[in-house]
Amino acid sequence: MEKIAVIGAGLMGHGIAQIFAGSGHAVTLVDLDQTVLDHALDGIRQNLSLMADNGIGSRDDIDVILDRIATTTRMAEGVAGADFVMEAVVEKLELKQTLFSKLDAVCPSSTILASNTSVMSITEIAAKSKGQDRIVGTHFWNPPYLIPLVEVVPGDNTDLETVETTWQLLNRVGKHPVKVKRDVPGFVANRLQHALWREAISIVENGIADAATVDECVKFGFGLRLPVLGPMENADLVGTDLTLAIHDYILRHIESAPAPSPLLKQLVAAGDLGFKSGRGFQAWSEDQVAASHRNLQTHLMTIVKQTTASEKEQA
Ligand code: NAI
Repeated sequence: MEKIAVIGAGLMGHGIAQIFAGSGHAVTLVDLDQTVLDHALDGIRQNLSLMADNGIGSRDDIDVILDRIATTTRMAEGVAGADFVMEAVVEKLELKQTLFSKLDAVCPSSTILASNTSVMSITEIAAKSKGQDRIVGTHFWNPPYLIPLVEVVPGDNTDLETVETTWQLLNRVGKHPVKVKRDVPGFVANRLQHALWREAISIVENGIADAATVDECVKFGFGLRLPVLGPMENADLVGTDLTLAIHDYILRHIESAPAPSPLLKQLVAAGDLGFKSGRGFQAWSEDQVAASHRNLQTHLMTIVKQTTASEKEQA
C-alpha cells in the first residue's frame, strides 16, 4: 500500500487522512500546530463513530484506522517515504507555491504532489517548483469522506502518468475521481456551483424571490433530479432544439456580472457572515445551524449507505 502524507490537518485535511487510513494506507498528518493535529484525530474518531452508528463501517475498526495515522509538526519528517503527498493548507497562492517548492526539494521525483485547492490554477501553484510534471490537483468536496467526487486536474506541465496514477489511487480508496482536461480556475464543479449561486443571489438582490424561496425551488424542484440526471444528460433528454430555444430567450435575462454581487459585499461589510454570525441572507438560530449540519450529514450518510448496499448487490 502506498504511504500517504497529508499537509494541513484542518477541515479537509483530517477528512482526507481518514479516507486513506480507512482504506488501509499508512498516513502521516502534518500541521504547524500540534493542537490542530490532536483535534484532527478527535474529529476522525467522531466521524467514524457517527458513521458506524449509521451503519457505515464498524466501531471495532475505529482504533485500527486511527493507529494507521501518525502526526507531526515537522514537514520533512512527515513526507519522508511518502508515495503521495496531499496538500490541504489554507487557500493562499503564495503559501501553496512556497510549500510545493519545498516539497519538490525534499521528496524524491517518484512522489506525487497533489493540491486540494478549491479554485486556484495548478500551473500557478506549481510555478516555483522544478518537478512540475508530478504536481496535480485533487479537489475533494466537504465532507471528503462522504462525498465521492474528486476532480483530478493537470497543470500545464503535469505528466499524464501522474494524472493516471492519482486517478487510480483515488479510485482504489473508494472515491469517484474524474479527470478534468485543462487547468482552469474553478475546474468543473465549482464553476457549475458558483454559476448557480450567482443567479441565486441575483434573484434575491433583484427582489424576485427571498432566499428561502430560492432554496425551496432547488430542494423541491430540479435539485431532486440532479443526483441521477446531470445537466448535460438533461439537455439531451429535453432535446438540444428545446435547449436552444430556451437559451435564445432566457440567457439575456439571467445574471452575467463578472464580479461579486453588491448585496453579498454589503452583507460581509455588515458582519452578516451566515451561520458564523447568526445572520447572512437569512437569520439563523443556533438550533437551526445545528439542524442544518445534522440534516446534511444524515442525508449524505443515507446516500453512502444506499450506494454501498447496491454496489454489494451488484458484486
Ligand atoms: P482549514 O483552515 O480548516 O485548514 C488548513 C490547515 O492548514 C490549518 O490547520 C493550518 O494550521 C494548516 N497549515 C497552514 N499552513 C501550513 C503549513 N505551511 N504546513 C502545514 N500546515 C499548514 O482549511 P480547509 O477548509 O481544510 O481548506 C484546506 C484547503 O482545501 C484549501 O485550499 C481549501 O480551499 C480547500 N478546500 C476546502 C473545502 C471546504 O469546504 N472547506 C472544500 C474543498 C477544498
